[in-house]
Amino acid sequence: MTQSFQKVHALTGMKDVLPDASAPWEQLEQTVRTWLASYGYRNMRTPVLEYTRLFARGIGEVTDIVEKEMYSFTDALSDEALTMRPEFTAGMVRATIEHNMLYDRAHRVYAMGPVFRREKPQRGRYRQFHQIDVEALGFAGPDIDAELIVMLNRLWAILGLPDIRLELNSLGQADERAAHRSALIQYLEQHRDVLDGEATRRMHTNPLRVLDSKNPAMQDMANNAPPLFDFLGEASRAHFDGVCHRLDDAGIAYRMNPRLVRGLDYYNLTVFEWVTDRLGAQGTVCGGGRYDGLIDLLGGKPAPAVGFAIGMERLLDLCDQAGESSAQAECQVYMIHQSDDAQRRACRVAEQLRDEGLRVIVHAGSGSFKSQFKRADASGAAVAVILGADELSSGTASIKWLRAQSLETRVQQETIPLERLVTELKLKV
Ligand code: HAM
Repeated sequence: MTQSFQKVHALTGMKDVLPDASAPWEQLEQTVRTWLASYGYRNMRTPVLEYTRLFARGIGEVTDIVEKEMYSFTDALSDEALTMRPEFTAGMVRATIEHNMLYDRAHRVYAMGPVFRREKPQRGRYRQFHQIDVEALGFAGPDIDAELIVMLNRLWAILGLPDIRLELNSLGQADERAAHRSALIQYLEQHRDVLDGEATRRMHTNPLRVLDSKNPAMQDMANNAPPLFDFLGEASRAHFDGVCHRLDDAGIAYRMNPRLVRGLDYYNLTVFEWVTDRLGAQGTVCGGGRYDGLIDLLGGKPAPAVGFAIGMERLLDLCDQAGESSAQAECQVYMIHQSDDAQRRACRVAEQLRDEGLRVIVHAGSGSFKSQFKRADASGAAVAVILGADELSSGTASIKWLRAQSLETRVQQETIPLERLVTELKLKV
């Protein structure tokens, strides 16, 4: 007797994608690869697991991600602190440095896959989610910042997604942020009475994030805080103008949002987010920006870089609302047979059909014609091919169209010589 076993379910905030729901994922992945290739971006794959210190240093010790959202553990064998990637950028930069990728030229790269953050799950917010991450490594100018944004604008158009707005800000350079930081801390000190516990705790470690608080009691204070933009020098302003001019050239509208600071510490100069009202509380579809200091910070030879990541679940939610996705049928042709010999012939014919690019399922095992037809129908196939005793002896196959528009053609079944089958189906399916 088997011992009783407590059933296992998926972890909170981590979702299964079942076969009926996977077609939109695959379609999106394919569309995204074609779109990225059209701008010269190449795929790169880095491990899910990295040393914790990579993310702590890269993303920043005093960020929500590093402070409380990472899935980290100590490896039993090496005693090393490891973390499931909460984003791609740090790992991509680690790999770039490790393989000396920037020694002779800059690179346009992308990665796609799961990332992990221990957040409170809700619509659009998961603990395992998927990102399309795009990085332009070794490029300094505003032209490439604009290229990324123009690319994204094209993706929304390809996917038929309306109502995604662009928000833009500049975080300047480290010294400009330091000057702003002192002014901001001074301002927060003056408004101590309205700060909540979290804000008071953070005002000296990460004062910019205090302005990001959702606490309604702090909104007035946050709105009137000295904006970082006022502390930007000439070069930072010129970079920002360079991005804006190119967006104007491309006819892309944006809103300057001085409060846009992003939740990761590596950014400088341009930062941006694409947001929508169609996703409830989690309306940010894509976030990114320039991170010129990160390669240096992680031990590489200093080099500029800029990138973004799109949340795939959020993007798919939007595609679903736009009615762009549909479940894919299991196959186009479903082969029904009646005997062992007929099944063997069906397998051979199926291979010929696959040679012609058709998707084919041969009914597995045996079963009455009725039950096999039921399976054929449920598979979503356009046509069932029947190899019964009569067909086998006469060298023919019967075809029954399962999804024709009119009832007349749907009930119709015709028998044709086996050698004509491949040509017939190739033409009609
Ligand atoms: P991020 O803003 O942390 O940026 O994440 C990018 C996108 O991932 C978000 O805009 C959102 O669509 C999605 N996302 C974030 N958290 C969740 C979640 N818990 N559940 C579902 N979707 C989520 C980054 O990760 C940076 N590495 C982007 C970047 C690349 N910057 C430069 N290069």
